[in-house]
Amino acid sequence: MDHFLYRDGRLMAEDVALDDIAAAVGTPFYCYSAATLTRHFRLLDDALAGMDHLVCYAMKANSNLAVLKLLGDLGAGMDVVSGGEYRRAIAAGIPGDRIVFSGVGKTAAEMRLALEGGIRQFNVESEPEMAVLNAVALELGVVAPIAVRVNPDVDAKTHEKIATGRKEDKFGIPISRAREVYRHAATMPGLQIVGIDVHIGSQLTDLAPFEQAYRKLAALTLELRADGHDIRRLDLGGGLGIPYTRSNEVPPLPSDYGAMVRDVLGDLGCAIEIEPGRLIAGNAGVLVSETIYVKEGEDRTFLILDAAMNDLIRPAMYGAHHDIVPLNEAAPGAPSVVYDVVGPICESGDTFARQRPMAEVKAGERVAFRTAGAYGAVMSSEYNSRPLVPEVLVSGDQFAVIRARPDFDEMLNRDTIPKWL
Ligand code: LLP
Repeated sequence: MDHFLYRDGRLMAEDVALDDIAAAVGTPFYCYSAATLTRHFRLLDDALAGMDHLVCYAMKANSNLAVLKLLGDLGAGMDVVSGGEYRRAIAAGIPGDRIVFSGVGKTAAEMRLALEGGIRQFNVESEPEMAVLNAVALELGVVAPIAVRVNPDVDAKTHEKIATGRKEDKFGIPISRAREVYRHAATMPGLQIVGIDVHIGSQLTDLAPFEQAYRKLAALTLELRADGHDIRRLDLGGGLGIPYTRSNEVPPLPSDYGAMVRDVLGDLGCAIEIEPGRLIAGNAGVLVSETIYVKEGEDRTFLILDAAMNDLIRPAMYGAHHDIVPLNEAAPGAPSVVYDVVGPICESGDTFARQRPMAEVKAGERVAFRTAGAYGAVMSSEYNSRPLVPEVLVSGDQFAVIRARPDFDEMLNRDTIPKWL
């Protein structure tokens, strides 16, 4: 459930009409709902109630400082994957002991940053990384808490580009080698083993692959404990899917996920960490865009929007579906028109939807892409020298610009023409 609903024919973000924001901010823009972010965080937090747990929001999904502050104030931890994300978490006021550091290629500089600023744990993904972390910790005179990310060789049955738990994927160490790697880690004085980590992929719409991976984790926990390691935390990763269309996708409920976790891992006496990104932010955001032209092609009608693939790359990159709805609700029974919905960028990949039946949209009218709160703004670029889209946060009847649209001078001033040219 989200808080983008029609009221008196106008699409609202909570109690603010998106058209009113468009008039104030211009298009395109991202708009997030504080109530929806809060609701989704609480659903997950409640799903694990009764177990010692921490929801570490995977901020790669949406890392605006205002979003981080809102979630941090609710008690969220953060899952970060770069020095930049770590700095964002700290800037948003998240205490270091609620930050976990994931990622397959952490540099020594990133490790130093987190060890100096405070960190709950590093999710280590390889033996070379373990050796570097040990060296950095020793150099700083501290001990780095670690979980080793294991690759359980489970097919998450999701899009090829976002499956991460199969043996051919670059992530984690093979679970078959886990005991050997933990034995090695235990010999390193700069490291302290605190748990095990796994993340098998994103946009999972079935609980079965999670359960398969978590059963392997439970067995490994017992083995590692028998080997003498102190396994007190299990980081279960993120990946719970969300509905992108109103009709056919029915992902598992957070409460069912929580019940499964309790069933499979509840008896181990471990603290549970999860790293959800999409489930918290996805349906909490829309991208609002204005129609520039409606163009008749040879055999189809193109809806040419002022948003483009640089603003929302998911359709071009993954063939992803986003519902596109008018800000002014179509009259009941109004005929639908079939459009190819495209942006102004100079390549055919800049297509949001092909042959999409929609209510008629005229030039100058605005539409919203639903479910754009996760992996939307964070994946945007300035391709075609289009300034980054601004972000707006709504709470009740108030809204604020939480990232302003850069002006063109700002964009041009980042480049330098060398004196010798
Ligand atoms: N933890 C780790 C270690 C991850 O790599 C990810 C996502 C998450 C947690 C959060 O997964 P989520 O709960 O959001 O599914 N850009 C793609 C998604 C990439 C996901 C990468 N890793 C998209 O737009 O679909």
